[in-house]
Amino acid sequence: MSDRIDIRAGAPEVADAARDRVVHAAERAIAARGVFHWALAGGSTPKAAYARLAALPPRVIDWTRVRVWFGDERCVPPDHAESNFRMAADTLLSRVPLPSSNIHRIQAELGPAAAPSYESLLAATFPHAAPSFDLVLLGLGVDGHTASLFSTADFPPDPARLAISVVAPPGYSIRPRISLTHHALARARAAVFLVTGHEKRDTLARVLQPSSDQDRSLPASIIASTCHARWIVDRDASDHER
Ligand code: 6PG
Repeated sequence: MSDRIDIRAGAPEVADAARDRVVHAAERAIAARGVFHWALAGGSTPKAAYARLAALPPRVIDWTRVRVWFGDERCVPPDHAESNFRMAADTLLSRVPLPSSNIHRIQAELGPAAAPSYESLLAATFPHAAPSFDLVLLGLGVDGHTASLFSTADFPPDPARLAISVVAPPGYSIRPRISLTHHALARARAAVFLVTGHEKRDTLARVLQPSSDQDRSLPASIIASTCHARWIVDRDASDHER
């Protein structure tokens, strides 16, 4: 595997490594530009890393200089059990001295209208084509999605499109979503996927070593290559010998 892939013993060690990666990215961004723009991943994998960040001693990260964004959101209220914002708020945002004005929630309860609204905020914050987020955390679905990009139909050609409304495939409990686009993600200075669990092994192998056009068109494959992403994975998700 390439040097872009950090294989850890298990999910706790992946969470430790992810915590350290966020701390390092924050230190570098704040030292260089006085601010750390961080796009959070949703789902369940990042929970342990967020909890570890919340448990850090107060001055390890200057949270007043952190601005939090979201890679995607389900179209539910922010207090809904399946809200990515709710997950981040419960595990991290409510537990660190992060000014609420620094939290840029996707107002996905508004439905598709939330996409242009978030797009306007992104465009106002990050001048066109300039780098944007200092770090984007991403997860990997067993179907090869990431953020809420489920197929190449979710990849608008217009580079000005930074956020879109998406409908997840049948089988997902919350299908209407808002997602950053590959254009928005590709403008990040760094992107890191967090992947754990044996159920992700085949998908991770296909994404890391695409052997067909179908594999190369998996959203996570496209994002990984356009973002020059790094990976923090556990042995269960990796095809390396234990
Ligand atoms: C979401 C996430 C999604 C997630 C993957 C992996 O809103 O569901 O943004 O892209 O990262 O589905 O989810 P798990 O970490 O729960 O396996």
